[in-house]
Amino acid sequence: MSGKDSNPSGEDRGNGVKTYDAFLSSRRTFLKSMGATGVAATTPTWASMAQAGADEVEAQQDGAPAEGERQIKLTVNGKAHTLNVAPNAILLDVLRERLGLTGTKKGCDLGQCGACTLHINGTSVNSCLSLAVAHDGDEITTVEGVADNERLHALQEAFWEEDAYQCGYCTSGQIMSALNVLEDERIPKNDAGAVREAMSGNICRCGAYNNILAAIQSAHRKLGGIS
Ligand code: FES
Ligand code: FES
Repeated sequence: MSGKDSNPSGEDRGNGVKTYDAFLSSRRTFLKSMGATGVAATTPTWASMAQAGADEVEAQQDGAPAEGERQIKLTVNGKAHTLNVAPNAILLDVLRERLGLTGTKKGCDLGQCGACTLHINGTSVNSCLSLAVAHDGDEITTVEGVADNERLHALQEAFWEEDAYQCGYCTSGQIMSALNVLEDERIPKNDAGAVREAMSGNICRCGAYNNILAAIQSAHRKLGGIS
């Protein structure tokens, strides 16, 4: 019996150890706090949560930059922002700290784990290695911008259905990379090795790789792909 099934009653053992139901509850709360991470149940409530992160972000319109700052324009999840930033400000930090888009994660901060993956002009990029000023005028999509209003993307649904995460910390980066994999016709989705190689820049410390692969292949089928 798996760890998940070992205590289905969820009764409180009174020993400080979380029961299965308590674990699930805290896990879901954690995922919500991550800006829904791109993973949400297929119910409207959870879909609303997934979209909320993007909708709740106000368009930022900074005034004249202070000495030493640079003014940049970014379109993030379809919303235009004008921001004054330090020349060495990192894009990941600007998105998380200035715009409150915390779905994109900081893992290694060294370009090695993929937790910070987002799309810039449609291409997957490690935002921990990206200077914000280098992306003046660019269009950025974070995991908060993947759902279509209250409709989750097929890949998000597949991550949920295939249980393609455990702690969820890598999940937003995995989803952003996987979206590019789904779009790339050079990568045969029925070739597990090819998909794994294409996703090799995204590390999952929980080892959910088999489930992530299953989610990508499931989403491919849902989207009508045959290869
Ligand atoms: S946090 Fe950017 S690659 Fe690890
Ligand atoms: S689900 Fe925990 S690091 Fe991937």
